Amino acid sequence: MNYAQHLTSLVGPVRHEALVHPHADAERAELYHSFDGGATEIEVLNFINALVYLFKPALALESGTAQGHGALAIGEAMLSNGFGVLHTVDLDPSASQRAQTNIARWNANLQDRVEFHVCSTLDLVASWNGPPFEFAFFDSLVEIRHLEFRALMDRGLLSRGAICAFHDTSRLRHEYYHDSNSEMIAILDSFDRQAQRLECEFSRGFRLFRVP
Ligand SMILES: C[S@@+](CC[C@H](N)C(=O)[O-])C[C@H]1O[C@@H](n2cnc3c(N)ncnc32)[C@H](O)[C@@H]1O
Repeated sequence: MNYAQHLTSLVGPVRHEALVHPHADAERAELYHSFDGGATEIEVLNFINALVYLFKPALALESGTAQGHGALAIGEAMLSNGFGVLHTVDLDPSASQRAQTNIARWNANLQDRVEFHVCSTLDLVASWNGPPFEFAFFDSLVEIRHLEFRALMDRGLLSRGAICAFHDTSRLRHEYYHDSNSEMIAILDSFDRQAQRLECEFSRGFRLFRVP
């Protein structure tokens, strides 16, 4: 069983991405899958699980908890690693509460690996007194993800070599949503010149780089 199959066995059936989220044709949504339009695609969850399993971060941040799918993927990789803590943040108390219930049901062993915060990610970053993060998954409000990244960089809270994953980075998002974030794309493009990087232009889009 691969990790995507494991996820569906825990969470439930997935739907075709094209049925749950608007897309431009070039994004090939017919090839992707998601639990619903608010949840991260299962292909992305599978990938971030593999990244955490590969790079072994001790401390990770997820901006935007929602129903807990990203926290599940990151937290389960940390369980496999035998160490690591994820701090996942959501502004919406009811979303965070639902995620906590989901995580407890999906995998009770995750309770020591995942810490939930109910606040804006920007507030958490401003008040964070712990060590820097080695892995960050930016998945909150599309309009502010670049601000979260900047705030972390300004405070030295992304360690050297930290893995930064950005979701919803499709360059075609403006064709179907009003929240496309050209500033985030510009910052990621400028960072690309100095950092190891990877871009998936399909589905909702995904960008990955390491802090130089
Ligand atoms: C796309 S969903 C996150 C999906 C989740 N990461 C997953 O993998 O399934 C975005 C979430 O970001 C939250 N959010 C919006 N603004 C935020 C902010 N300023 N700080 C933290 N979370 C925020 C929303 O309440 C929503 O639950």
